[in-house]
Amino acid sequence: MNGKQLDVIRLADDAMSVVILDQTKLPNHEEYLTLSEEKPMWDAIKLLQVRGAPAIGVFAGYAMAVLAKQETDLSYEAFKEAFDRQADYLNTSRPTAVNLSWALKRMKKFVEDHPEDPKTLADRLVQEAKTIDEENLAMNRKIAEYGVTLLHDGDGILTHCNAGYLACLGYGTATAPMYMAQEKGMHIHVYSDETRPLLQGARLTSFELYKAGVPVTSICDNMASLVMKQGKVQCVMVGCDRIAANGDFANKIGTSGVAILAKYYGIPFYTLGPSSTIDFNTPTGADIHIEMRDPEEIGSMWYKEPMILKEIDKFNPSFDVTDHSLLSGIVTERGIVYPPFDVNLKKLFNR
Ligand code: MRU
Repeated sequence: MNGKQLDVIRLADDAMSVVILDQTKLPNHEEYLTLSEEKPMWDAIKLLQVRGAPAIGVFAGYAMAVLAKQETDLSYEAFKEAFDRQADYLNTSRPTAVNLSWALKRMKKFVEDHPEDPKTLADRLVQEAKTIDEENLAMNRKIAEYGVTLLHDGDGILTHCNAGYLACLGYGTATAPMYMAQEKGMHIHVYSDETRPLLQGARLTSFELYKAGVPVTSICDNMASLVMKQGKVQCVMVGCDRIAANGDFANKIGTSGVAILAKYYGIPFYTLGPSSTIDFNTPTGADIHIEMRDPEEIGSMWYKEPMILKEIDKFNPSFDVTDHSLLSGIVTERGIVYPPFDVNLKKLFNR
């Protein structure tokens, strides 16, 4: 990929802390946080200092390894009890993206399957966290390879929120075909929705694409219909936080509106995500828990003065669910899944 990527998540050399890029400070400031305790780790996820479904999963693996390294004087039983409690605690930080609970479950299972001296076990947990990280990078590369086959030279691509390397590492997910198209010398142009209220599209997607040399235009959310009507968009690509067994999927608030617009204008609409985002235990989108966030993110967070009076009621769901009927396909590391999603997802993942 062109352009240098910022270090989103990095394990310290002694594995006693994990260093993250504070994404709340982008695009104007590049600041890093060094985390070694559970409460600041929980806060980092909750406050979106580290964010994006796959990146939260990778961070959770490293966070648990760092916590494990600090408890090597305990007996295995006491170590396991502390480990499980800390994992359950981190799991309460954000409910919608399944990658968080997926990674924590995997780390807990590793401890359960290895009843060993905690010193050795902690080192093996570091290795397991690195494996989660490496697997994620490899999955994103495969998503890039499959996703790029959906693009044509000259295409305009609209995306919502940030599902780039800042959210997923490596190629990202929704951005993966964009970066690969660029590597192949294809000409594409990306329209990046600002993504109210936390502006991940404006602050992060347009930032990372611009830095990588991918042509990008930042638009407000309410301009998506216009650019589609003007014929500037040939394809929509977005990430996902949880894909239900029937293909309904949760993604950043506003995604379902974009999907409805794409359907109206006859534009193919894809979600792209690794298998760690598919939750076969969630039958439909109606079963996905939608995170509610601080109302002041809408009212005052980005302004010098509040833009909505304090006493006025505000509604701030962080995600919405896009119905599978609006979806042209799901791009995963194993291939592209087409309708009927309930049948074809199971087939691809041998369920
Ligand atoms: O609240 P965020 O910034 O963590 O939400 C991110 C998104 O909704 C992304 O589109 C999603 O996680 C999919 S891929 C990173």
